[in-house]
Amino acid sequence: MNPVQFIREKREGLKHRREDLKAFLEGYLKEEVADYQVSAWLMAAFLRGLDPEETLWLTETMAYSGRVLDLSHLPHPVDKHSSGGVGDKVSLVVGPILAAAGCTFAKMSGRGLAHTGGTIDKLESVPGWRGEMTEGEFLERAERIGLVIAAQSPDLAPLDGKLYALRDVTATVESIPLIASSIMSKKLAAGARSIVLDVKVGKGAFMKTLEEARLLARTMVGIGQGAGRRVRALLTSMEAPLGRAVGNAIEVREAIETLKGKGPEDLVEVALRLAEEALRLEGLDPGLARRAWESGKALERFQAFLEAQGGNPRVVEDFSLLPLGEELPLVSEKEGVVQEVDAYRVGLAVLALGGGRRKKGEAIDHGVGVYLLKKPGDWVERGEALALVYHRGKGLEEALAHLREAFQLGFSASPLPLVLDAVP
Ligand code: URA
Repeated sequence: MNPVQFIREKREGLKHRREDLKAFLEGYLKEEVADYQVSAWLMAAFLRGLDPEETLWLTETMAYSGRVLDLSHLPHPVDKHSSGGVGDKVSLVVGPILAAAGCTFAKMSGRGLAHTGGTIDKLESVPGWRGEMTEGEFLERAERIGLVIAAQSPDLAPLDGKLYALRDVTATVESIPLIASSIMSKKLAAGARSIVLDVKVGKGAFMKTLEEARLLARTMVGIGQGAGRRVRALLTSMEAPLGRAVGNAIEVREAIETLKGKGPEDLVEVALRLAEEALRLEGLDPGLARRAWESGKALERFQAFLEAQGGNPRVVEDFSLLPLGEELPLVSEKEGVVQEVDAYRVGLAVLALGGGRRKKGEAIDHGVGVYLLKKPGDWVERGEALALVYHRGKGLEEALAHLREAFQLGFSASPLPLVLDAVP
């Protein structure tokens, strides 16, 4: 394989051969192919595209570039991935439900990205909880509790880590085959047999239109099936934040309330639908999801999971153990029906308060956030609070400006469906 010839091939829009693609990328890992050559190839792939076969080969090369977990000895190994949203605490609800329904929910999760939150950041607001662990601990917890969530390990799909870092600085992130292969390489390496994907669509998502989201979902499902896994994607709305809580600790609180049966309807709907899809993929009765939730067994699993990972399990009964900033109501200057709560703006508000990172590795404040008292379709009086802002003074003015922009009031609202489509 001649790297220059290989790059030229994609520049001309030709299809690669599997051996060449593998050799080029493995050469990069061994530092035999230079990063300027990989950068040039990424741009060619970005502009010319990769066909489904090339996308699968790229994914497999990334997935097998490091450690690959084998969960096949565990009962019903399932995984879930969200393409990223605002107020998206679905994993904290789906995981315990699936574990209580007899599955093994063993997942690697990431931290927040841009204006969206990350599961590991949220869970770290529980005193003592840790996402770092050895492979042995991961497997032991998966077997004993049926629920384990670990921080992404650098030796899982390391080629994806290297390529992602290059994409980030060469304007080649926003490509469907590159995004889909990046996400799925980590899912394949993490070892689950069935994978449910929650592809978010709308203002607060990375995919702004249903068309783009459908293409991403089809590409990811195609990769998963091509690699012998069972995969289903739901396309769900991310115009407004999911649930009412946006922030780290307050999202954990809302997830616990949901597991207790007191959660917001939209969160319950998305979580149950995804859990049911995962059960169907495993050939189990989808009705097990609701029963695991309503019986309180999912909540028990969540508590055992927190404890196993060093977290204080008493947070489930006592929310005062979670950090919380100072509370400030955001008051409406007029009356009307809430037509829109722009998830992107709410995400930016929480970022401004210090709930997310603007630079890699930055420390975050788990106690800041926004609790939405009003959601689309709700009536609001002049002088009534739209939201509660939890802050520590930092970025407050900027956050309030984003929130005032986020709320659009009018005289009628047409509720939008939450689950927009499914693939396949
Ligand atoms: N998340 C990933 O893991 N990879 C991408 O390329 C985009 C989002």
